[in-house]
Amino acid sequence: MRRQTRDAGRTVPNDPALYDRHAGEWWRPRGVFAVLHWLAAARGAMVPAATRPGAVLVDLGCGAGLLAPHLEGKGYTHIGVDLSAASLRLAAAHGVLAVRGDVLAVPLPDGCADVVAAGEILEHVPDLRRAVAEACRLLRPGGLLVVDTLAATALCRFLAVTVAERVPRIAVRGVHDPALLVDRAALVEECARHGVALELRGIRPSLVDTAWWLAGRRASVRMVPVPTTAVLFQARGVKR
Ligand SMILES: C[S@@+](CC[C@H](N)C(=O)[O-])C[C@H]1O[C@@H](n2cnc3c(N)ncnc32)[C@H](O)[C@@H]1O
Repeated sequence: MRRQTRDAGRTVPNDPALYDRHAGEWWRPRGVFAVLHWLAAARGAMVPAATRPGAVLVDLGCGAGLLAPHLEGKGYTHIGVDLSAASLRLAAAHGVLAVRGDVLAVPLPDGCADVVAAGEILEHVPDLRRAVAEACRLLRPGGLLVVDTLAATALCRFLAVTVAERVPRIAVRGVHDPALLVDRAALVEECARHGVALELRGIRPSLVDTAWWLAGRRASVRMVPVPTTAVLFQARGVKR
């Protein structure tokens, strides 16, 4: 896995330790992870209420558990898997059953999940196919996979890395490795291979909300649909 380190003054991106270093920012709605709050709300809206008692949602790369408030009342036991110990401590404080582990080798049994959420994680892993195989392995038949991530396109590299990482409070410098952005065709193909027919839709932050948020006049920003999946997109699919 690539690491973000100071290498002769140069930032090498996607350092897993970044999340430990910035742990104090996770739950600040106006902190450096603010966009993740907006995305967690949009992800939560894709998760229906549980259809059976004891239903489990596995949150891959759960960070500090920002999805938790958006699952309230839906009837899931929320299990979060992450590498970052500091983030997991915060997730546990927000009601998540925290499991320290790698999304490429999740220490949970096959078919344990009614829902698997992979929010803003696939663009951080060096092996997309392995991460998808793990997500699908965890799902029981009839279970739902929900994803949001960044597409491997020149437009996305420009907007999400070149631009966003230079705008204070929108993205932390070095958080994304452009080489790890997600090949949409490979994602769909790999999910299909594991029995999940994935449907994609493009989203972006509402520009009006973002302007009000930057002016300090809105607490959060809504995600709105866009006709292209070439930058930020959500995906959902049910396992056969
Ligand atoms: C961009 S954050 C997203 C967090 C959360 N899903 C959210 O949207 O608020 C990426 C998270 O993935 C975790 N992560 C990165 N690589 C991982 C891996 N291989 N296994 C488990 N967690 C990983 C990081 O520690 C971080 O908490």
